[in-house]
Amino acid sequence: MRMYDVIAKKRDGGTLSREELAFAVNGFVSGQVPDYQMSALLMAIYLKGMTGEETAQLTDLMAHSGKMADLSSIQGVKVDKHSTGGVGDKTTLVVAPVAAACGVKVAKMSGRGLGHTGGTVDKMEAVPGTRIALSEQEFFDQVNRLGIAVVGQSSEMAPADRKMYALRDVTATVESIPLIASSIMSKKLASGSDCILLDVTVGTGAFMKTVPRAVELARLMVEIGCRNGRKVAALITDMDTPLGSCIGNSLEVAESMEVLKGCGPEDLTQVCCQLATNMLMLAGKGGEAECLAMVKRVLADGSAFRLCKEMFHAQSGDVRVLDDPRCFAPAQYQYDVCSPSDGFICKTDAEKIGIASMLLGAGRLKKEDSIDYAAGIRMYKKQGAAVRRGERLATFYTNDPARFAAAEETFLQGFSFGDEKPEQLKLIYARVTQSGVEYF
Ligand code: URA
Repeated sequence: MRMYDVIAKKRDGGTLSREELAFAVNGFVSGQVPDYQMSALLMAIYLKGMTGEETAQLTDLMAHSGKMADLSSIQGVKVDKHSTGGVGDKTTLVVAPVAAACGVKVAKMSGRGLGHTGGTVDKMEAVPGTRIALSEQEFFDQVNRLGIAVVGQSSEMAPADRKMYALRDVTATVESIPLIASSIMSKKLASGSDCILLDVTVGTGAFMKTVPRAVELARLMVEIGCRNGRKVAALITDMDTPLGSCIGNSLEVAESMEVLKGCGPEDLTQVCCQLATNMLMLAGKGGEAECLAMVKRVLADGSAFRLCKEMFHAQSGDVRVLDDPRCFAPAQYQYDVCSPSDGFICKTDAEKIGIASMLLGAGRLKKEDSIDYAAGIRMYKKQGAAVRRGERLATFYTNDPARFAAAEETFLQGFSFGDEKPEQLKLIYARVTQSGVEYF
């Protein structure tokens, strides 16, 4: 077989066989297929698409390119949750302890943030001392003992995805539904959980810009997971506007603790309750009303918050910052951004606001960049709010004041103002399961 012929077949709109996909993926991981040929294949896939069967085969090959986690020594139903990425998206820090407090096992491997989107592992590391690399035995023991561990994705898992994603990132081939689906699901299948709840975000701050595209991606990922014997469902959630009020690592940890303590922002609390409810439903804990009641109970009685602290403590984190966010090392500099107009805020563009936060030092432009955990944005006004010219929209935090000007310019580009109150955005648009799509 020649890589040239595999590329040409896809370029001409053909359907690749498992053998042809295996030749490309395994050859790329072993170094026999060079970057330029894999790049050409990725672009051909981007342009011509893939069938469901081809995408499932590609996912399986990518998952098996490295270690497949065997979670059989953890007793009980293991539930995972994955977000396709967002701004201010700190839901894992809430829903993982909530689900575990309701009696399911959460053995979760998470990623880092890149560009305008954040990552759970960075947020965890904002809690001083937290270890995100546990040995396999420590990981299993902690999940058996506490019901929860959240660690960084092992470099041994799905190496094909890591190499392919690095190429996609520089060849304008990220925004392809079969490539995103196979990338995400290869890692989820390799991580070994029985049930997987996908949070497929839609809007300016997400990969998917429209609800139909998000539903298409969700359907494909649900199909791939189910074909591989996992229980999978997806919620389509809004990412036109940042979730919650805070963006930036320690700010987001503090805000997630507010949700766990029952005093978090309404939008974040609602999305977290729905995600946790759907995780429990997948795990067979009951119907929707029953699962939602369990979620509300562990939030109200403080057991989810206590479990979150136990998890951080077990992973060597300094839990004083979870009790009292004033224990976080503060940013040396802060700056208030004020409204340039009177009126209603018609838009708070998640992508622009995510980039502004990254410019303050909260995120990475390149993988190698370091993060300022104290940097970020606290928003006081979001889409739908009425404001007066000169009124405070947000506070910026950073340890490098030279960053304020560019961040403010980008942040304000994300706002538009009008005379009429805009229609309130939905927080959750749809649920996708094996049996179909339910729109809300
Ligand atoms: N997240 C991933 O892990 N892969 C993609 O391709 C896109 C988002």
